[in-house]
Amino acid sequence: MTKNEKERGLISSVFHTIGDVISTFLFDYLFDDPNRKGVMRFSFPARTFHWVVVVLIALLGLTGLILFVPGWGAASIAGWTRIVHRICVYISAVVLVLYFISYRQSCLAYLKEAFSWTKADFGWVRAAVDYYLGGDESKMPPQGHINPGQKIWELITIVCGVLFVITGAIMTFAKGVVAPAVFQWSLLIHDIAFIIGSAMLIVHIVLGAIHPRMNESLRSMITGKISVKYAKSHYGKWYEEIAEKQS
Ligand code: HEM
Repeated sequence: MTKNEKERGLISSVFHTIGDVISTFLFDYLFDDPNRKGVMRFSFPARTFHWVVVVLIALLGLTGLILFVPGWGAASIAGWTRIVHRICVYISAVVLVLYFISYRQSCLAYLKEAFSWTKADFGWVRAAVDYYLGGDESKMPPQGHINPGQKIWELITIVCGVLFVITGAIMTFAKGVVAPAVFQWSLLIHDIAFIIGSAMLIVHIVLGAIHPRMNESLRSMITGKISVKYAKSHYGKWYEEIAEKQS
């Protein structure tokens, strides 16, 4: 293969993927048949909450990045990035509290899910690298409602969220009140949470929305449903539980 063909291959595969993601969004959002057979994976409130959080995180990330990267400071003329950043924090807090009050059971289930680890989960983590690189699917132990990779992501969202809130509150309300070292540590921890959270967000997007083995995943975050075949192969334990309840 010549160099040009290789480059064309890479570029077309990147654009192909972007095209796939956009068309999944548009097609499933606009034309999905609500009576299509399948298993309900994410409720309408959970999906709405997910996409509202995505928009807020995107705005927080962008404005945070402008504050964080030294060379980008010029983009924050008249401090607008700081203002938008803070407004998004307050909106996120309201959204989070309202969602928690309205859907307490599912929020508690989310917390329980993230912190419940079994021996089988560690077996999944060991087999996962081979699986995501195209290895034998039958080697993967059957999973519950979410797999351990998704549990790690849930944990990251909780830990980074708590760190952002504590350190952000110190930087906003306690400047000059706390010791300078505490202020500096808050800044550093806020930045580290941002770096870890962003790196894991990229993994989440790649494995959640783009990876060919998770080909019904994005669809489930748009329409709520996955096919029975996908539920059996990806979340076998969970599928058995719901099938038992229905019988
Ligand atoms: C453009 C950005 C994002 C995309 C395309 C995306 C996509 C997805 C998809 C497809 C799923 C379903 C995975 C499954 O099959 O179970 C999912 C689940 C989830 N997403 Fe996102 N997501 C994005 C950003 C975020 C952000 C910013 C957060 C929170 C900070 C988040 C938190 C979650 C959580 C907690 C779940 C459930 C656990 C899991 O399935 O991983 N997502 N996301």
